[in-house]
Amino acid sequence: MNDMRPLERIVDTDNVKITAKNVQVYYGDTHAIKDVDVDILANTVTAFIGPSGCGKSTFLRCINRMNDTIDIARIEGNILLDGEDIYDKRVDPVQLRARVGMVFQKPNPFPKSIYDNVAYGPKIHGLARNKAELDEIVEKALRRGAIWDEVKDRLHASGTGLSGGQQQRLCIARAVATEPEVLLMDEPCSALDPIATAQVEELIDELKETYSVVIVTHSMQQAARVSQKTAFFHLGNLVEYGDTGDIFNTPQDQRTESYITGRIG
Ligand SMILES: Nc1ncnc2c1ncn2[C@@H]1O[C@H](COP(=O)(O)OP(=O)(O)O)[C@@H](O)[C@H]1O
Ligand SMILES: [Mg+2]
Repeated sequence: MNDMRPLERIVDTDNVKITAKNVQVYYGDTHAIKDVDVDILANTVTAFIGPSGCGKSTFLRCINRMNDTIDIARIEGNILLDGEDIYDKRVDPVQLRARVGMVFQKPNPFPKSIYDNVAYGPKIHGLARNKAELDEIVEKALRRGAIWDEVKDRLHASGTGLSGGQQQRLCIARAVATEPEVLLMDEPCSALDPIATAQVEELIDELKETYSVVIVTHSMQQAARVSQKTAFFHLGNLVEYGDTGDIFNTPQDQRTESYITGRIG
């Protein structure tokens, strides 16, 4: 009994990829994220759920410093990636975003060819020594994005000419091309039809073999299908975090229960 430690510290501590400690985010006077503490695991899909405006996207953007691009956003606290503070002055946000990739709600391919969309990141990060290596990286990323077969004969056609579902898988291929360790996805299926959604969900399941995946979703069915861990946010607070099955079946907090049973949203 002497060696009892707080419960959450016993669980999976070796597998922690990201740790948030006492994170606050302000937009001017708006306190959008309040006292968030959480450990996000490697090789795991973590879902962020909660009512619109509760801070899911804001907190997601903390993890690759995308909030740096919003003038009025101010962040306090610490976010550690493999134990290192990503807000340290020595960290270059562009390098960080190669390690922590992001996929947005609306597919946003560059107005370039399919090939150049995927080759862009590897080029700026110097990941290929020659054209043959770059070709290989592009093919591998498109295969991981589960879109290779559909585009291999038209790699030099425009990325923006693809269907919505294909564009989103292209954006996922673009995000994985730099070999990130973490993939952040902000409602990646909200612009997609059910078939494209199923394809992206299958892909997310495969990606967790290699990455830590964090997905914001307003679909509780989707959270239940794709994630192993779920975090419920409400009015800027992380109210409850745990195994997805537990959050949905035996929520501990009244606010979580109300949300998942449809009483707030
Ligand atoms: N760029 C911004 N400027 C000012 N306020 C913002 C900005 N982005 C989000 N907010 C505010 O922060 C809060 C959380 O928003 P957000 O993170 O987008 O929530 P969610 O993704 O859960 O819908 C909301 O009150 C929203 O109005
Ligand atoms: Mg959002």
